[in-house]
Amino acid sequence: MSASGPAPLSGRPVTITGLGAHVPAKVVTNDDLAKVLDTSDEWIRQRTGIRERRVAEAGLSSSDLGITAAREALADAGVSASSIDLVITATISPDRMMPATAARIAHDCGCGNAGAYDVSAGCTGFVYALAMAAGAVASGLHNQVLVVGAETISRIIDWEDRSTAILFGDGAGAVVVSVCGSSPGFGVAHSSLDTRGSGGILGFDLGGDGAGEELLLIPAGGSRLPASCATVEARQHFMKMNGREVYKFATRVIAQSAGRVLERCGREMDEIDLFVPHQANLRIIDAAVEKLGMAKEKVYTNLQEYGNTSCASIPLCLCGARAEGRLHQGDLILLMGFGAGLTWGSCLMEWGQTGMGRAGRGHASEGEGGAGNTRAADGRRD
Ligand code: UT7
Repeated sequence: MSASGPAPLSGRPVTITGLGAHVPAKVVTNDDLAKVLDTSDEWIRQRTGIRERRVAEAGLSSSDLGITAAREALADAGVSASSIDLVITATISPDRMMPATAARIAHDCGCGNAGAYDVSAGCTGFVYALAMAAGAVASGLHNQVLVVGAETISRIIDWEDRSTAILFGDGAGAVVVSVCGSSPGFGVAHSSLDTRGSGGILGFDLGGDGAGEELLLIPAGGSRLPASCATVEARQHFMKMNGREVYKFATRVIAQSAGRVLERCGREMDEIDLFVPHQANLRIIDAAVEKLGMAKEKVYTNLQEYGNTSCASIPLCLCGARAEGRLHQGDLILLMGFGAGLTWGSCLMEWGQTGMGRAGRGHASEGEGGAGNTRAADGRRD
């Protein structure tokens, strides 16, 4: 793919104005898995960096986790659900083949007649969905879009397959995408919102290579191989992955895509303040960061606690980073996802002001501890 490609995002300036996160309460440690699978805490930590993950209780689906995260993002942005024009849900574990998981999230959050659709782009889904939202707001098609990454991957994992079962976790993260400087609620200029030093979302690099289709997939249950007793017996409704090949792809594509988005936006690698990569494997992240020549301190990870939460990993990281005081207004942030398809996507943005809703309700806003968001990142139910 050439570095020329699409230009930086143009039109109205767009930014993330609210964050929300939710993970289920149940923790499954590596030792728990070692009781039922031929694996060990040592192998999982050394090969992936993961210590534990969250698993949703029976009866909960991706939309259930997504709704909690979405409500929190709306409250954080200080916008009413009725002001949302569009809900996009990125997921590899949708509630159903149809209708879109986003439709239930939009309905339960009270987003009225907002448009609602799902993005299926493997673990890159959140970055793709963010790009769709940013483009829609920048163009004026919509004023406010809710983007939700929601996963209950525990439902699509083969718990008898140690090569995949140890990697994934359940969770959800959400962001509100609005015009820079728009007021909480109605998308009009608001003098108390400080957007200095923040260009908002600057640009994207999105790509895919369908030649890698078989490397990471759920073989059955769609129109290519409809559900039957035989497909269920053959465990073809569970995720299958060629880990080694996906690993090689990931380490290659992170550096390439990051380089492209920086070039398109006219920025340099050493200007990046925080790098938030998809949380698949610490070794993948370390290898990519070395290729990029980036200081390790600039990288945010949460896979140690949550495993690979697919489309939820990046918004969960953003919540965690803000709660830890690692997101400041004007910081240059690089988000990067990769996954099934094969797909990849990078987003470059200058961090703006979030948490106006919380600030309005007496909570600390970012840079002041962000207690509301520590709770969100932990995801424990109140
Ligand atoms: O979200 C995006 C998609 N996912 C990814 O990006 C994941 C990409 N891939 C990976 O992260 C890594 O390839 C894995 C973590 C999945 C596997 O790590 P690896 O270092 O590539 O291991 P491997 O597949 O080469 O297997 C090495 C050995 C094998 O045994 P032999 O053949 O050497 O005797 C495996 O059978 O480790 C064995 N193995 C395990 N042993 C203990 C595989 N899984 C496990 C396990 N516990 N859970």
